Amino acid sequence: MINSSATYDMLSDDYDDMVDKTRDYSQVGKVLSDFIGDRRTLLEVGVGTGLVVKALLDINPNYEIWGIDNHQPLLDQAKAKFDAADNVQFHLQDVLNLSLPKTFDVAYSRGGASMFINTPDGCWFASHLSGRENNLKSLKLIAEHLEDGGLFIINADRYRNYDNELKEGVVHHRRIEQQTIDGEDYMVFDLSISHNQKVVNRQVLKLFLLSYQDAKELFMEAGLTPVSIEADGSFHIYTKGAAQ
Ligand SMILES: C[S@@+](CC[C@H](N)C(=O)[O-])C[C@H]1O[C@@H](n2cnc3c(N)ncnc32)[C@H](O)[C@@H]1O
Repeated sequence: MINSSATYDMLSDDYDDMVDKTRDYSQVGKVLSDFIGDRRTLLEVGVGTGLVVKALLDINPNYEIWGIDNHQPLLDQAKAKFDAADNVQFHLQDVLNLSLPKTFDVAYSRGGASMFINTPDGCWFASHLSGRENNLKSLKLIAEHLEDGGLFIINADRYRNYDNELKEGVVHHRRIEQQTIDGEDYMVFDLSISHNQKVVNRQVLKLFLLSYQDAKELFMEAGLTPVSIEADGSFHIYTKGAAQ
């Protein structure tokens, strides 16, 4: 299986151009900040180039935000977006071994190591981490880094293909398909970049899948209780401990 690191190596130079075309980060920040309310200390899991951190700080400069990612080139781009006045920190860490000397009011993940995906057949939990055990471990670690009653907010992606022109003649293609391989369910992302219609780089990424019900049990086992789902299905909210 191609790991996500190889994919982000391929995409890191164009990451900001690429995502800006497909996603309104200020809207992502607004939806998140509505859930965050007056909580202040935030952890982004899979922070990438820091676009969500920036959107949140544009809304509320008083947030203290730490981000982790297992991909240094993206973290370097994230660091370059902020100055000393911003209360941000970035750490090179895999969520499977998350270890920070702090607990947070809120952890959130937008397109990070795992996410939900809304398909025509329903909502699935999809993860770069293989197998149930690894996912349980990472969710437990996220829960350990939350204050009691803290929130974990995780996004749900859309099940869609696209071709986005990054710059003249350079196009980012995404094809997504659900597949069953050796009895296990996967979401297969076929990601490529073409230049003048010739594919110059291509990675196929298989994300481990769990049904919504199995994922709910996984989150509960990790100590994360479902609270709500954003009205348009784009974010799922969990709390550490029992729901209020
Ligand atoms: C699609 S990007 C999203 C980045 C950012 N959250 C955003 O919305 O622009 C996914 C990020 O998750 C990171 N990631 C994937 N697996 C990870 C893991 N096991 N531990 C930490 N970060 C991971 C990738 O390196 C990448 O930066």
